[in-house]
Amino acid sequence: MKLLITGAGGTVGTMLRQGLRDSLAAEKRLLDINPIAPGIGEEFVLGDVTDLAVVRQAISDCDACVHLAAIPVESTFEKILQTNIRGTWAVFEAARLEGCPRVVFASSNHATGYYPIHHRISPSDPPRPDSYYGASKLFGEVLGSLYHDKYGVRVACIRIGSALPRPVDERHLSTWLSPGDLTRLVTACLTSPDLGYAIVYGASANRRGWWDLEPGRRLGYEPVDDAEVFAAEVEPGPPDEFQGGTFTRPEATP
Ligand SMILES: NC(=O)c1ccc[n+]([C@@H]2O[C@H](COP(=O)([O-])OP(=O)(O)OC[C@H]3O[C@@H](n4cnc5c(N)ncnc54)[C@H](O)[C@@H]3O)[C@@H](O)[C@H]2O)c1
Repeated sequence: MKLLITGAGGTVGTMLRQGLRDSLAAEKRLLDINPIAPGIGEEFVLGDVTDLAVVRQAISDCDACVHLAAIPVESTFEKILQTNIRGTWAVFEAARLEGCPRVVFASSNHATGYYPIHHRISPSDPPRPDSYYGASKLFGEVLGSLYHDKYGVRVACIRIGSALPRPVDERHLSTWLSPGDLTRLVTACLTSPDLGYAIVYGASANRRGWWDLEPGRRLGYEPVDDAEVFAAEVEPGPPDEFQGGTFTRPEATP
């Protein structure tokens, strides 16, 4: 498999590249606006994901793309529009034009951040974005649906919880996606013969989890980690009212 990873130099990209090295025999092309030192089997392309010509060249001859490049937090509408919305359009459009059959899109739990904590939700529940950032991820999901229905691109949208080496605060006990489970979930999305269009939550098998992981399981994802083993070590915090945590506070949006 030849794989394009956009935003490959960030937190998720770095964890994923390490994980995929062992689990999936894939030749990787890495696109990022900041320099990355490529490893064995990796080719680096310096470029902006919002530039369609750049993404077309990077995605050409790839069997799949994992699209991570984004502003991963709340920001001004103009910045979110440019990187997250235009960038995601460029990836889907490049996939269509270059015949790349499968895109795994890094969506976010902030697409549904206004659900109260402890409320168990699944991807079929209505969106409740908590930020311009969360709304941009919903745009990406909807665009993926369009590119699937109209052009047959296979699309998996992963609403990532908190992809971190280990949980550091109380919220993460519900939202954590361990490096191993991140790799397992992305691998399932990249290889499942059953994938047409899917939205799945990206979390480990956390005892305190809020999200239905069944849609990911249907693609072959079997989470093995549980944030609970770190419960005694995380920073206790005041309980958040909503699943999106600090993103839901009005002052979080500029
Ligand atoms: N880390 C998490 O827990 C988490 C949770 C939910 C969703 N996500 C999503 O996963 C993806 C990766 O998140 P992350 O935490 O690794 O973020 P990050 O900021 O660490 O990495 C993003 C990468 O994208 C690159 N990038 C930014 N703008 C670019 C552009 N215009 N062109 C090309 N490259 C560009 C950056 O240089 C960086 O290497 C994002 O889409 C984010 O929204 C992450």
